[in-house]
Amino acid sequence: MSFLPQPHGGKLIQAYNPDFDFSHIEKEIEIDAVALSDLELIGVGVFSPLTGFLGKADYESVVENMRLADNTIWSIPVTLPVSYETAALLKKDEEIKLVHNKEVYGVIRVSEWYEPDLDREALKVYKTEELAHPGVKRLFQRGPVYAAGDITLVKKPEKGVFSDVWFEPNETRALFEAKGWKTVVGFQTRNPIHRAHEYIQKAALETVDGLFVNPLVGETKADDIPADVRLKSYRVLLENYYPEERVQLGVHPAAMRYAGPREAIFHAIARKNYGCTHFIVGRDHAGVGNYYGTYDAQLIFTQFSEEELGIKPLFFEHSFYCTKCEGMASNKTCPHGKEDRVILSGTKVREMLRSGVLPPSTFSRKEVVEVLIEGLKEKTLV
Ligand code: ADX
Repeated sequence: MSFLPQPHGGKLIQAYNPDFDFSHIEKEIEIDAVALSDLELIGVGVFSPLTGFLGKADYESVVENMRLADNTIWSIPVTLPVSYETAALLKKDEEIKLVHNKEVYGVIRVSEWYEPDLDREALKVYKTEELAHPGVKRLFQRGPVYAAGDITLVKKPEKGVFSDVWFEPNETRALFEAKGWKTVVGFQTRNPIHRAHEYIQKAALETVDGLFVNPLVGETKADDIPADVRLKSYRVLLENYYPEERVQLGVHPAAMRYAGPREAIFHAIARKNYGCTHFIVGRDHAGVGNYYGTYDAQLIFTQFSEEELGIKPLFFEHSFYCTKCEGMASNKTCPHGKEDRVILSGTKVREMLRSGVLPPSTFSRKEVVEVLIEGLKEKTLV
């Protein structure tokens, strides 16, 4: 008997078929890196219960109510943008190849195409129409028409340096089971793991059996630290500071949306599909700039019962190192003032790393900082 949660919607979608014969299909849609990532995540079940790119009824319902048309909780539209010219050629029930860099990765059976109201999608999903928001910018850049339909994943993208930490939900579930974990907490990040991240992960791990460190390695905004550099820093951190038998590293190959609260729900659902029973939500989860309140991504969980969501969020206050406490703390546990707390903004830290300045060990582990500075140096040389 498994203690892990059922996949979202009840069934792990498996839509990968490398033997699928598409030789008779002529028409193709060129897909971008985000759609390629979505295609794979649908195909291997990370986005269960989605079986394809959203049709109009599901899309409208997700945008308006954070639910699919059948009422299943779903907070971010997963859509396939195409041009008007491409849309004009689409016929219902026709199979079309999904192509990226001249390689066929999937086939979509077109159910319909529709023109989304992008302003409304921006306001509802991202809570802003400002193009300075990276998710909104991408939304408007991507496309005026959405093609919908079930997909078959026919080829999985190359995993490169991530290959040994790239697991599909059926693999993570098997790993967790083999370790005998009955409770597993998932951790999302698009950043290197700093002391505050480590603190909340370990605080969570005090109460569950296992920790699934699950950094997002899909598309991120240009000034985020590249995923391959981050990966080296995760490896060195885990080697030096985490108990091997209680921690599993695995990447989440999704694109970052920066949709704050809505993305926190989306992130939690994906982790449930990987087999996590718990999910960490700290301060300004998946946020960017000042678009969301510090704890909005926690508050949104009150809109759904834990039973229906099927994964338990674990909330954490903004954490920091306090020089008086001589340890990590938060407002909940530390009585001291601002002047005693080591708080650096992400932007500040990235600036320091890029110019080779070491952030203090109270902010980030020495081994992590060294790997990041080295990795970023190599990036600027290429
Ligand atoms: S995210 O965009 O992937 O959410 P980030 O990598 O910054 O961003 O955060 C990963 C997780 O750690 C999120 O749940 C976030 O809320 C949490 N977090 C980040 N920094 C802190 C902090 N100083 N205190 C508490 N939680 C934090």
